[in-house]
Amino acid sequence: MAKKQDFFKQVIGHAKEYGYIFSSSEIYDGLSAVYDYGHNGVELKNNIKTYWWKSMVQLHREIVGLDAAILMHPKTWKASGHVDAFNDPLIDNKDSKKRYRADVLVEDHVEKIDQKVQKEIKKARKRFGDDFDEDQFVSTHPRVVKYKEQMKEIIDRMTDALENNQLADLKQLIEQLGIACPVSGSKNWTDVRQFNLMFGTKLGASSDTASDLYLRPETAQGIFVNFSNVQKTGRMKIPFGIAQIGKAFRNEIVARQFIFRQREFEQMEMQYFVRPGDEMKWFDHWKAQRKKWHDVMGLGNENYRFHDHDQLAHYANAATDIEFDFPFGFKELEGIHSRTDFDLKAHEEYSGKKLQFYDPELEKSYVPYVIETSIGLDRMFLAVLSAALKEEQVDEKNTRTVLKIPAFLAPVKVAVLPLLKKDGLPELANEIIKELQWETQVTYDDKDAVGRRYRRQDAVGTPYCITVDHQSLEDRTVTLRDRDSMEQKRVAMSELRSVVLDKVSMIRALKELEQV
Ligand code: GAP
Repeated sequence: MAKKQDFFKQVIGHAKEYGYIFSSSEIYDGLSAVYDYGHNGVELKNNIKTYWWKSMVQLHREIVGLDAAILMHPKTWKASGHVDAFNDPLIDNKDSKKRYRADVLVEDHVEKIDQKVQKEIKKARKRFGDDFDEDQFVSTHPRVVKYKEQMKEIIDRMTDALENNQLADLKQLIEQLGIACPVSGSKNWTDVRQFNLMFGTKLGASSDTASDLYLRPETAQGIFVNFSNVQKTGRMKIPFGIAQIGKAFRNEIVARQFIFRQREFEQMEMQYFVRPGDEMKWFDHWKAQRKKWHDVMGLGNENYRFHDHDQLAHYANAATDIEFDFPFGFKELEGIHSRTDFDLKAHEEYSGKKLQFYDPELEKSYVPYVIETSIGLDRMFLAVLSAALKEEQVDEKNTRTVLKIPAFLAPVKVAVLPLLKKDGLPELANEIIKELQWETQVTYDDKDAVGRRYRRQDAVGTPYCITVDHQSLEDRTVTLRDRDSMEQKRVAMSELRSVVLDKVSMIRALKELEQV
């Protein structure tokens, strides 16, 4: 497959060509970091949502659902800390007038040093061949050790400046490192300022009486403010969870990685309310559970890693990211956070309402602690798409582009292809569609030679093709072709339903989840 950068371009191009993702309002040249999902995109997105929802809500008696509004009372965001602390540190280059995230400029600089380290490793690996011991090399080679020390020192200084809101120190670091504007090449920087990431809007028509609102930057707060409603109406007992899928909005400054970092995106979040003191047990539990959920999709264990946070947000006492190897490297896909009782307590304080649970076993009321699992739906989509896209050699002369999307998530599960557009073959194909369409997504294709149709379905990611030919008219058998192995076998039409549905079934994946 192509180099990483080229591969990423290929993923973006493929997503557009096969109806997965378009730039928002493209006919007006698009809107930066905002995307629309086409026919195949929306099906894949819905399948990922269903897989998450069923595994979280349907398979957990103690987890219930919620669909809170995007607009919330403005005090919500004061209580949650978003008004005061949901900021990015920004810096402008005075010559190019371009604006950057100061921490990203520093991280990019560190990345360049890391590239030098990787180059040294590559050279050494070539020199030493099979005897090469990377760990030993990295810990003893003087140049590499120096680079590593430099990287650590820079990251420590940046973290310190960010945590203590020492923006002048951050600017000084950028100047000392000699970081230049990628556009103008100049080092003529403004001071660093904090920029709030929430999108503001107005409630009401008249400008005098309208009040300021925000588009929610996370779905979690809708769950916290509804804690008592859900607990009481569902008669929930601790431990219990509330799950939600919905849109979130962030005015991201650095938004250049396709659907990875968008201004409007979807989150799938679950808040699990536990007894104070039990939170670490449940943190470990959900860390393992969520990894299983990813494993069942089969995107490759080597593409995942955990990144435990050393530096914690003000509300957390433990946090880890599940990172995925995207086409631009390992990045956060999902966060698992132990949020203590910070949010419920803050909402108690700002609303004056009690958000507590009476625990009959302990015979007392308390504000529960919270373990949160939070995954970006769009990031999961990108993980599936980029892990699935393959360029394969079919025979000596031919290659094929295939999207090996896990069958139970594929937007179209079966394509029915009449060999010819006559002789009653389309009618028989439609008969098959009529039988399968109730339970799965089926498509029909009668254009071009059948080989080309197979290639087209491979590129869309359709796991199975059913070809109807003249023999089908005689003995009511069809050819069933498997996307991944390209194997073809003759199957009786009467067996199609059970054979195909079993292969593409989400139930199978969910059962596997229970067993892993
Ligand atoms: N309630 C916790 C929370 O919102 P977060 O780490 O800020 O935590 C959770 O976001 C997840 O939402 C991330 O792991 C990521 O998958 C997704 N996410 C965050 N910002 C995003 C963006 N700008 N575009 C797409 N997905 C995003």
